[in-house]
Amino acid sequence: MCYRAVVTGAGGFIGHHLVKYLKGKGYWIRGVDIKKPEFGRTMADEFILLDLRDRDNCLKATDNVEEVYQLAADMGGIGFITAYHARIARNNTLINLHMLEAARINDVARFLYSSSACVYPQYLQHSADVVALKEEKAYPADPEKGYGWEKLYAEELCKYYREEYRLETRIVRFHNVYGSLGSYEGGREKAPAALCRKIALVQDGDTIEVWGDGEQTRSFMYVDDCVEGIHRLMQSDFADPLNLGTDRLVTINELVQIISEIATKRILTRHDLSKPQGVRGRNSDNSRLRKVLDWEPSVSLEEGLSHTYHWIESELEERMNGRLVLELEEIVG
Ligand SMILES: NC(=O)c1ccc[n+]([C@@H]2O[C@H](COP(=O)([O-])OP(=O)(O)OC[C@H]3O[C@@H](n4cnc5c(N)ncnc54)[C@H](O)[C@@H]3O)[C@@H](O)[C@H]2O)c1
Repeated sequence: MCYRAVVTGAGGFIGHHLVKYLKGKGYWIRGVDIKKPEFGRTMADEFILLDLRDRDNCLKATDNVEEVYQLAADMGGIGFITAYHARIARNNTLINLHMLEAARINDVARFLYSSSACVYPQYLQHSADVVALKEEKAYPADPEKGYGWEKLYAEELCKYYREEYRLETRIVRFHNVYGSLGSYEGGREKAPAALCRKIALVQDGDTIEVWGDGEQTRSFMYVDDCVEGIHRLMQSDFADPLNLGTDRLVTINELVQIISEIATKRILTRHDLSKPQGVRGRNSDNSRLRKVLDWEPSVSLEEGLSHTYHWIESELEERMNGRLVLELEEIVG
């Protein structure tokens, strides 16, 4: 049977990969976003540019589909989400509320909500050697300002819509997704992409800037694992929030080390303590994930970062070559 689904945020990083994955599974896909994918053409059967803060646009997005994969959000790296609390909370509240209501009105069968590890209480994340976060630890609530509060509130909304209107909602909490075809500059990029860019742009033996002292810890998941996990959860009967991430904790300094080995460059670091670094440590507890899906992410950090680094490096080279051609044309012409 060919399912019809809409992927919102299909112009963004995870959405773009998810469209490709679901097409591979035989789905008919409508992609929706306020922008087209920046890197490469979408594989969606139909791609509509819509601002999902608007209720009527959400009705168009969810028209005549069985499944909704709600990935649209105003978001970015730690610099971005700590700078724009009101804007992020307002935009994402509007998107999520209208998308849920539109899915209900249009009688959608299943609705996947992409939540985040940012919902977990800050008081549990003061140490770099952090205890991995189990899903039930989200309460008593003390999530990250703006982005985290909005994610937690939208999780609750999903629960209410399931209980009151029988809309089958699924809630996934991503832990730091990285990979090719994502932002790597401009402020919305996350730490792995930012570090790949910085290392790609310097020579062997040069110094790059790292935010904080680099001893803050995180776990990272490659995007191929992410889209597979999303689809597995959507197929399951599990309606409570579920972590989707790896449980390999690394410091940002270790991340620099791994990427410099991939780049075969010796890299020195200068730590800027004035820059935001988020919580001190955060890791995913995958006990529930293993139990519910009988599966967990398996792409190693070394392998995933190798793909990511080489993609960013080739993007930067291509741009550099393009600029050289333009300059040559100007000189000749
Ligand atoms: N990437 C991660 O590590 C991570 C971690 C936790 C949660 N998430 C969540 O996963 C989802 C996808 O994240 P991503 O990394 O692909 O981010 P992304 O920024 O690449 O994609 C989000 C997309 O939403 C679109 N969007 C924003 N406002 C919109 C609007 N008003 N109408 C329509 N589209 C709009 C953006 O244009 C963008 O293309 C988001 O909900 C995000 O909060 C991601």
